[in-house]
Amino acid sequence: MPTPTSDHPIVSLRDLGVTLTGAAGAVEILRGIDLDLSAGETVSVVGPSGAGKTTLLMVIGGLERPTGGRVTVAGHDLGALDEDGLARFRGRHVGIVFQAFHLIPTMTAIENVAAPRELAGETDAFERATTELTEVGLGHRLGHYPGELSGGEQQRVAIARALVNRPGLLLADEPTGNLDAATGGQVMGHLLARSRASGATLILITHDARLAARCGRTVHVADGRIDASGGGDGPPGGSEGGSGGDGHDTVCSDDDAA
Ligand SMILES: Nc1ncnc2c1ncn2[C@@H]1O[C@H](COP(=O)(O)OP(=O)(O)OP(=O)(O)O)[C@@H](O)[C@H]1O
Ligand SMILES: [Mg+2]
Repeated sequence: MPTPTSDHPIVSLRDLGVTLTGAAGAVEILRGIDLDLSAGETVSVVGPSGAGKTTLLMVIGGLERPTGGRVTVAGHDLGALDEDGLARFRGRHVGIVFQAFHLIPTMTAIENVAAPRELAGETDAFERATTELTEVGLGHRLGHYPGELSGGEQQRVAIARALVNRPGLLLADEPTGNLDAATGGQVMGHLLARSRASGATLILITHDARLAARCGRTVHVADGRIDASGGGDGPPGGSEGGSGGDGHDTVCSDDDAA
């Protein structure tokens, strides 16, 4: 399988391994992962439950440390960074959308979105937050608390928050997993459109084959490895090359159609 490369890969994984040792003994969660992602590329990550997809995303985002191999993101060797360095790296380069939103319930939509911008020490946090929330269609909900928003609206707030620092790398872990198909399709459309407009690289974990197909490339993870055979659940001939030769092979479709 050809692996797209670039003179400036934004993500480079070499022989990446994660082994966790708990009461039940050592568990090899990721084993020998090699992967390069180009700037602006959109990639879906698919595979069975427990395959290691979330762990992979957390390692790329600097939220979990690998136990082997090398992770380079946006030119930073993450293994060389201490905790403060990793926090700065995340603030500058990474936006993360978690499946369960992880909004702060005591903060309004605009406060939730502004928070990472304020943490970055910028003075335009509330202007930026207003812009991002307006972009996802929530300009009329700035002062609502998460409990006063629908599931799809909460997820759009989470997307706005992930984008507020205009990260080069956007990570999304089943961002539509809690939503009905129509709302999920709309949320996905917002995510793709915003990441495309900002030129960000998007890594999307999803169990939904239709959403996965809206990305330029699909990476199959099985049993802690990248499954070069495609996992048997993709279209014949493999889908890694893009979306059917339509000339947009590194850009997700941002159609709102679910
Ligand atoms: N702290 C831990 N200690 C031991 N094993 C763990 C730990 N955290 C996760 N695992 C195991 O690592 C494996 C991969 O977990 P991960 O969350 O990355 O899977 P996933 O592919 O995202 O699955 P899903 O699709 O269900 O979200 C699982 O088998 C899980 O049980
Ligand atoms: Mg997961």
